[in-house]
Amino acid sequence: MESLSIRGGIPLHGEVTISGAKNAVLPIMAATLLTSEPCVIRRVPDLSDVKFMGQILASLGAQVKFEGSILTVRAEKIKGVGDYELIRKMRGSICILGPLLARLHKAKVSLPGGCVIGSRPIDLHLKGLKALGVKLSISNGYVIATAPRLVGGDLFLGGRAGPTVLGTANVLMAAVLAEGVTIIESAACEPEVVDLAGFLNAMGAKIIGAGSPTITITGVRELHGVDYEVIPDRIEAATFAIAAAATDGEITLLGSRPDHMHAVLDKLREAGVKVERHGPALTVRRGSRLKPVDITTLPYAGFPTDVQAQMMVLMALTPGISIITERIFEARFMHVSELARLGADIAIEGPSAIVKGGKPLSGAPVMASDLRASAALVIAGLIAKGTTLVKRIYHLDRGYENIDAKLRQLGARIERVEES
Ligand code: EPU
Repeated sequence: MESLSIRGGIPLHGEVTISGAKNAVLPIMAATLLTSEPCVIRRVPDLSDVKFMGQILASLGAQVKFEGSILTVRAEKIKGVGDYELIRKMRGSICILGPLLARLHKAKVSLPGGCVIGSRPIDLHLKGLKALGVKLSISNGYVIATAPRLVGGDLFLGGRAGPTVLGTANVLMAAVLAEGVTIIESAACEPEVVDLAGFLNAMGAKIIGAGSPTITITGVRELHGVDYEVIPDRIEAATFAIAAAATDGEITLLGSRPDHMHAVLDKLREAGVKVERHGPALTVRRGSRLKPVDITTLPYAGFPTDVQAQMMVLMALTPGISIITERIFEARFMHVSELARLGADIAIEGPSAIVKGGKPLSGAPVMASDLRASAALVIAGLIAKGTTLVKRIYHLDRGYENIDAKLRQLGARIERVEES
């Protein structure tokens, strides 16, 4: 297993190109199952989660070819059984359920299971599919679904913590080939859902309203192949923006979508960070003084849960008290105890973390627990005095393309080392 060894204290400077969005490309890859024609996907990030999804599509019978950042999938003849060993590795794989049902009218997909950031149920996915006429049962750890006819319906996808991103994706992908009209109320509004709808419309689907809480889908008889470019990753962009402010450097993010980042950029500005926009490029640097801010994670267009851990590091540096409240995933504070090992003063009170900022951080070995916690530990390592060893970085490789190379290009002293 590999670790990252980081020598802290160097301000990051320079330009970094933002990769394609992991959470957009995963459901888009699943959507290729909806047609027998070839689909070309561009700006595909080189991530282990993307490779897993490629393996899942191949295990279902699709031809999958990666050429740099271009992925071609041809799902000419496919089967409807998703392998347990592959699916359990990645929660995003649940979004093959909708397309398999639309294409084959039956599917057997292993339950994705829990996860370190919270329980992550799929009841809303199943509720949405049932509303389209799908018969569902759970047996021996598999969801077994059949739908001799998929029929459009009206459904409400709001849950305890608001809408569901992959649940909306699953229902969208089933509804595009259903008979009649489907209306999803309380749909997720995330840019990744809009990107999936864009991909499906480019295949010949009829979807309107994506990006709003009401999505209307008029079913079509078949979909065709497509050539499509995925949106840039707003979470990767936010992570580099925070790293610029945290290290007191200046980074220009190339090829980002600032219009997908309003909540993060607004909070950064409130925290005293200077953000300048030049078209798709964003230049980020610390202002004269950092200020503590309170943050609550919310569904889009609120502050993303996927940036909560990274922002906590910036607040740990900032003199004063910040309160960070997690409203999407109840257990997403695994990074707190590791940040404490570096010297941060953070207490958890229910769904909130109380950050008493301004304590100096010093390097130590820390353990990455999930993707975004790992990113936070890397940022903390970049500012901590001495050397930080971030262990179990396979989490990072799931969602950040070449993060160590990109950071090195910005001046960071960061190396991959074999864990002893
Ligand atoms: N929820 C339910 N029932 C469901 C589905 C979700 O109660 O059937 C709850 C969840 O437990 C959570 C909330 O609804 O409290 C929102 O979960 P959601 O379904 O939106 O999450 P997801 O679709 O499984 C995606 C991203 C996550 C990101 C969340 C929230 C992918 C592959 N994953 O997960 O990304 O945090 O949306 O924005 O798109 C990451 O990239 O690090 C990551 C975890």
